[in-house]
Amino acid sequence: MKRVTTSTLLRMKQHGEPITMLTAYDAAFARILDHSGVEAILVGDSLGMVVQGRQDTLAVDLQQMIYHTQMVSRGAARPLIIADLPFLSYTSPRQALESAGALMREGGAQMVKLEGGEQILDSVEQLTRFGVPVCAHLGLTPQSVHKIGGYKVQGRSEAAAASILAQSHRLEQAGADLLVLECVPAQLAATVRAELTIPVIGIGAGRGCDGQVLVLHDILGITLGAPPSFSHNFLAGRDSIPAAVAAYVAAVRDGSFPTPEQSF
Ligand code: KIV
Repeated sequence: MKRVTTSTLLRMKQHGEPITMLTAYDAAFARILDHSGVEAILVGDSLGMVVQGRQDTLAVDLQQMIYHTQMVSRGAARPLIIADLPFLSYTSPRQALESAGALMREGGAQMVKLEGGEQILDSVEQLTRFGVPVCAHLGLTPQSVHKIGGYKVQGRSEAAAASILAQSHRLEQAGADLLVLECVPAQLAATVRAELTIPVIGIGAGRGCDGQVLVLHDILGITLGAPPSFSHNFLAGRDSIPAAVAAYVAAVRDGSFPTPEQSF
């Protein structure tokens, strides 16, 4: 089976085919996701919250990300495996290159994800120059939760929306291959998606994106604490985890997820 690549995702955007993505943190779930046909698996640092039971993602370190990425790589043959660069592991282009190199060489990731805009442009350029595929992440960036002041919708004001749009363009120009937009108004996400050449994947960003990503534990209804309003328990009313994952994939592909009520 041929691995999904950045070219596959770009082609899907060009053909208007929705891209499906979920998080996973181990081989067993990665295999279920692989069999469901998702195009990409994100080994998110959300593992700090949904696996380790922490309040935020900040304590997740590079060794933990490598460990979980290794497990996911063993379980999934077809989806593109994207791994998060953890908090403060990419404060300079050199550090970003070293951290990304470890996630790819030791973990088996095929793309790395970095949170932020202006402050990561140099790192995105450096990674691109050395052949590292990059997923950028704008909007609600959980690694900055204490600076932002909580898990809040971003880009609501005209100025904030303009800033996210401008940063999206700059990240694409710097070489990003993919952009995740988290918790932004659906209208803003649709504008970013229309203006960018690279695929835009939404989470709490409405249905006008090129694809969707959710945290696996949220779609299975096993989130510690309250699940986010933009997610959905796809296991409710179904009798197996593969059936729940298949329902998510089908709902993204047929456009029935997310609904306006699951958007901002
Ligand atoms: O860590 C993660 O799971 C993420 C998603 C919420 C996009 O970054």
